Amino acid sequence: MNIKSISTTFILIIFFRLLSVAGEGMWIPMLLEQLNEKQMKAMGMKISAEDIYSINHSSMKDAVVLFGRGCTAEIISNKGLLLTNHHCGYSSIQRHSSVEHDYLTDGFWAMSQDEELPNPGLTVTMMKEMREVTNQVLNGVTATMTEKERSQKIEENIKKIVDDFEKNSEYQAVIKPFFQGNQYYMIITETFKDIRLVGAPPSNIGKFGGDTDNWMWPRHTGDFSIFRIYVSPDGKPAEYSKKNVPYTPKYFFPISLKGVENDDFTFVFGYPARTSEYLPAPAIQLIVDKRNPAKIKLRQTRLDIFTKYSDNDPKVRIQYASKHARVSNYWKKMIGESKGIERMHGIERKKDFEKKFTEWVNSNPELKTKYGGLLAAFDSTYQAITPYIMAYDYFREAGMAVELVNFAGNFDNLINESKQKDPDQKKIDDLATQLKNTSALFYKDYYKPIDHDVMAALLDLYNKNISSDFKPEFFTTITEKYHDNYDAYTDVVFEKSIFDDKEKVNELLDNYKTKYYKKIEKDPAFRMYKDLSDLYNGHILQGLETNSHRLDSLQRIYMKAQMEMQPDHRFYPDANFTLRVTYGKVKGYSPEDAVEYRYYTTLEGIIQKEDPEIYDYVVEEKLKELYENKDYGTYAASDGTMRVGFIATNHTTGGNSGSPVLDADGYLVGVNFDRCWEGTMSDLMYDPKVCRNISLDIRYFLFIVDKFA
Ligand code: ARG
Ligand code: GLU
Repeated sequence: MNIKSISTTFILIIFFRLLSVAGEGMWIPMLLEQLNEKQMKAMGMKISAEDIYSINHSSMKDAVVLFGRGCTAEIISNKGLLLTNHHCGYSSIQRHSSVEHDYLTDGFWAMSQDEELPNPGLTVTMMKEMREVTNQVLNGVTATMTEKERSQKIEENIKKIVDDFEKNSEYQAVIKPFFQGNQYYMIITETFKDIRLVGAPPSNIGKFGGDTDNWMWPRHTGDFSIFRIYVSPDGKPAEYSKKNVPYTPKYFFPISLKGVENDDFTFVFGYPARTSEYLPAPAIQLIVDKRNPAKIKLRQTRLDIFTKYSDNDPKVRIQYASKHARVSNYWKKMIGESKGIERMHGIERKKDFEKKFTEWVNSNPELKTKYGGLLAAFDSTYQAITPYIMAYDYFREAGMAVELVNFAGNFDNLINESKQKDPDQKKIDDLATQLKNTSALFYKDYYKPIDHDVMAALLDLYNKNISSDFKPEFFTTITEKYHDNYDAYTDVVFEKSIFDDKEKVNELLDNYKTKYYKKIEKDPAFRMYKDLSDLYNGHILQGLETNSHRLDSLQRIYMKAQMEMQPDHRFYPDANFTLRVTYGKVKGYSPEDAVEYRYYTTLEGIIQKEDPEIYDYVVEEKLKELYENKDYGTYAASDGTMRVGFIATNHTTGGNSGSPVLDADGYLVGVNFDRCWEGTMSDLMYDPKVCRNISLDIRYFLFIVDKFA
């Protein structure tokens, strides 16, 4: 063997190894055959790309749906049965819950189809087809256009293409940009509107581990809920009606009881919402050095106050449970993301890449004219946008995070209508009725002492961290009248405002007269809202818009340049809430020195975590009995354990919750619901060593439905 063939073998080995560990990428289903099928098969897949996405015959894509506005679900029976996460069905389950029927706590199981519960407003959207329309969308766009002219032209074209399509079709269409606006695809969809709740486990199964275990492995959450799609008797999407019948899908996922083993091929099919994998270094710097730390601190402050009050008051704990979950979810995500970028030396990586990029650009005069100023323009634009972005973050996470202020803002429309020369009485009555509903929901979960402390603490942070030209007007009052004493100011706002008082607000709304608007306008909580929104709609928005248009344009050019520079690299577009396939292998990982995580968890782990004193770790008697008796039916793994969750290298993000996790034969083996903490930077940068998606083992789902329910 000569040197040359040795080195070829070596390269082949490296290439093969890269192939077998791949996990990065969220791929367009329609392009799988062309871009991914070969690699997927090399990694173990036994089905074909055509089985996953086909427009000529039924395929898996017919069984994967966008659930509500932010999750994925899959069809698992020929009667339109849908499987998704418990946290995706949470608000529907909550809406059906009352003290008499506490489905959140106790779970809910419809024993027949007429016990299934309708959910007005909940929809499920299925993708019928996807078509590339780049040329039509960019028709008439020229290189000399300003960014504004360009986007106007594109908008015009998009409207025309969509209108033309919808005129002749029973389906809907949207056109979305891919690769930062270098490509466009039309997504053709069908939306179902009668979606009924079929089953949900009790929260101590569906949310086991709560916010404490959220984003973490080892995980033991039975994060599933079951719904069903109903259609009109002739099989078409329809609003809820008693006459509707279960939907007969073109395809549904068969379930496998075989489970997964280390190194098995899996893929995830679903609706990832947003990633930003192709940003330049200053963008990552802004996130990691400025935005995340600020938001983490603001959220931490709120969460500490929530916890202080809810720890010794069960009523408050329930009132703030959902708020806590919402605030803590991205608080924790941001911590993981920042640490992950740091561990990967992410900023240096980007800078190294940019060095190579610059060399490439400088190697050729033509490239230099096209891309020469790009990185410098990024630098200056990111510098210019930073104060606006920070002001925006504080506006949202400090100003509007005060519940009282946010709630008072709901009265803005009523005031505006009342101020008209000829107020429309019908409109005013409608607004007042709407506000009464909003108030009822608001006060049900409002605890004044928490909000009071939150306001004082957030204002203090707001003041310390934002320069005066980005501060809402009321800070002048705080300084001049209250000598920067935030507690004193907060006391007065709470004393004088009517918005912390349910009775007063109801009284106002019950006999509302247009002249009352003056009273609301003078209310100190409403004034705070007004100062904040004036600041946002004026100064902040203006700076954000100018600079972000600029960044959009730079990003589009940079994306194109990166693709030109690496013609052999397979690029995947950033997530944009369109259907994607990601594939990888079942694998444990090492989160830190000396620690190795196994790829699966079992029921035994639930028993180990049990703590009757801590809400998140309560285990039901019945589940314990099943464990004691090892009553696992056909759902046990071959080693006799009851598997609960597993992890794999699939590249997922928010929106992938509820996505089907499929094995090499296309059988359903799990339901995706989270990512491991150490890998949460994968929205910016994927690290095959630690990026793992977390799935519920499908056998645990079946075991709970069959043996527990
Ligand atoms: N981290 C998961 C996601 O981003 C689960 C969130 C819901 N669970 C929770 N404990 N907050 O959606
Ligand atoms: N829980 C997330 C969701 O609701 C998925 C977790 C992730 O971001 O990967 O979509």
